[in-house]
Amino acid sequence: MDKLIIKGGVSLNGEIRIAGAKNSALPILAASLLTRDTVQIRNLPHLYDITTMLELLGCMGVEPIVDEKLSVEINSGTINSFSAPYELVKTMRASILVLGPLLACYGQAEVALPGGCAIGSRPVNLHISALESMGASIRVEDGYIKATVDGRLKGSHIFMDLVTVTGTENVMMAATLADGRTVIENAAREPEVVDLANCLIEMGARIEGQGTDTVIIDGVPELHGCSYSVMPDRIETGTYLIAAAATRGRVRVKDTRPDILDAVLAKLEQAGADIKVGKDWIELDMHGRRPRSVSLRTAPYPAFPTDMQAQFTALNAIAEGTGSITETVFENRFMHVHEMNRMGAAIRVEGNTVIVDGVEMLKGAPVMATDLRASASLIIAGLVSDNETSVDRIYHIDRGYECIEEKLQLLGAKIRRVPS
Ligand code: EPU
Repeated sequence: MDKLIIKGGVSLNGEIRIAGAKNSALPILAASLLTRDTVQIRNLPHLYDITTMLELLGCMGVEPIVDEKLSVEINSGTINSFSAPYELVKTMRASILVLGPLLACYGQAEVALPGGCAIGSRPVNLHISALESMGASIRVEDGYIKATVDGRLKGSHIFMDLVTVTGTENVMMAATLADGRTVIENAAREPEVVDLANCLIEMGARIEGQGTDTVIIDGVPELHGCSYSVMPDRIETGTYLIAAAATRGRVRVKDTRPDILDAVLAKLEQAGADIKVGKDWIELDMHGRRPRSVSLRTAPYPAFPTDMQAQFTALNAIAEGTGSITETVFENRFMHVHEMNRMGAAIRVEGNTVIVDGVEMLKGAPVMATDLRASASLIIAGLVSDNETSVDRIYHIDRGYECIEEKLQLLGAKIRRVPS
């Protein structure tokens, strides 16, 4: 297991390229199971979670071909198993995304039931009840979701009790091959849902309303192959911008999408950042100033993303003033707070809110990453500490940030990876 050693106190400065979005790439890889034609997926990020999804396809008898330009060709014609084993699901909950495609295309699926994780209990009851309303028979037995359907799934009118991203994606994929019309109400509006819908449309699906809270899918008898480029990662983009703001730096991120980052850019401006955007780039300049604290509340898109609150907690930790951050999506997403307090931050948790009194600088310390975004926030905390910080258990970060230490080094950070 590796760890990252960070020597803080450097203002980030420079330009980096943003990778393809993890949370788009994962459902799009699962969508390749909806056709026996070849699907080519371009701009895949180089991440552990992507490798895990490719491994999952591999253990079903599908052999993805990856080229050096980070594109992959998948032909699921060789599929010989319809099961997602616990060994893979326990390392990546997004494995649940094969449930809808397998059921819709092959009439059967067995997916290990994901357990809770570091950020919350994260049940998948809404995925299951929606697929049941489309005619699937589903049992949860021996730790597995065992689903079958006789013939095609049937179009259905589904109201999602909660906004769920992968739930919306699973049902949308299943509905593309169902008999008749499916309407998903209270659907997730996340850009990653739209990216998946756009890929499915390229494959011949009939979908409308993606990006709104009502998605309408008219099932077709079959889908075909396509070549699709995954959209840029908005969370990776935001993470580097926050790191730049926290270190009073100036950074330009390219190959990204400013139009899907409104809530994050507005908070960075409130923190005192000067922001310029072009079609596919964002430039942030703090002009050497200390950031001001911001207050925010997470909620489904287009509101402020839960995947960015830990990074803003790190920014607030060294900002001028007091800020409060309220988490409404997951029940336990504050594990980073206790680690930051060990670095001299003044943060207290009150229910689902953290109150952060900014201090001038954090103090380097050994800290431990607990989940992907918490790890990113601890790296930012390390960048604004007066000494050396080591972040342990960084396998979490490799799940969702491509070459993080190389990209930060390009921006001038003193960071290196060493074996623990
Ligand atoms: N929920 C239920 N029942 C369900 C489904 C969800 O109660 O059947 C609850 C969850 O427990 C949670 C809320 O609904 O409290 C929202 O969860 P959602 O289903 O939207 O989360 P997800 O689909 O499992 C995706 C991302 C997460 C991101 C969330 C919220 C992927 C692969 N994962 O998770 O990304 O935080 O949406 O935007 O798309 C990350 O990248 O670090 C990450 C955790």
